[in-house]
Amino acid sequence: MTPGVPGLHIPYRPHGYDPIMSDPPKPLVDVIGTIGSARVLPAIVLEDADAAGPLADALVAGGLRCAEVTFRTAAAEAALAALSEDPRLLVGAGTVVRPEQVDRAVAAGARFIVSPGFNTTVVWQCQQAGVPVVPGVATATEIQAAGEEGLDVLKFFPAEPLGGLAMLTALAAPFPGVRFVPTGGISPANLRDYLAHRHVLAVGGTWMVAPRLVAAGAWDEITRLTAEAVALAAES
Ligand code: 3PG
Repeated sequence: MTPGVPGLHIPYRPHGYDPIMSDPPKPLVDVIGTIGSARVLPAIVLEDADAAGPLADALVAGGLRCAEVTFRTAAAEAALAALSEDPRLLVGAGTVVRPEQVDRAVAAGARFIVSPGFNTTVVWQCQQAGVPVVPGVATATEIQAAGEEGLDVLKFFPAEPLGGLAMLTALAAPFPGVRFVPTGGISPANLRDYLAHRHVLAVGGTWMVAPRLVAAGAWDEITRLTAEAVALAAES
């Protein structure tokens, strides 16, 4: 709280970004809207950037047009760069936990940033770069903190271990304007229930692009799982 001014809170923003005064470059497409239309966001963990091409073909054949490449492997940046060149896909970076990774991800072509948790320095770096960010939250405190930064689309992570839809419903109640992207334990078995929730924009997960499937070059199976997810999403 600002001393002597009850109720007035002026956030400390060391990077100089101010949501009212600053005018960062706007993305040319509605990135969050595109994810919300797709309703399913695959979280890709690539050990080998050469797999990016066939993986993109497999996802597109299954009917998906967006994907998140996680910054968990040495190949992540090269894979992101390869996938972001593909005009059929809207590609972002996931598992972004440090501000410098934001710059690397954007340089590699990321159109959006996803974090497992809420970290203001990562959020500020994204806002400075003019790239949409979807940070992870697991508590009401984190949702409030994200709201202070003007964010109303948040990853709910890890969704199932946190209590799934019951927890999401309870957390969403005081925040009617917030939309969530639940991730962590989402599968064909529970995808429809999540997507039917009015606070859920899209679901994320690794099940249709599991590292073992990618390592095995099981592109047909990835296409089948992707198409199944797209069909289930269309039912909800
Ligand atoms: C993520 O990166 O968001 C999670 O690791 C995905 O969780 P899942 O593997 O249970 O889908």
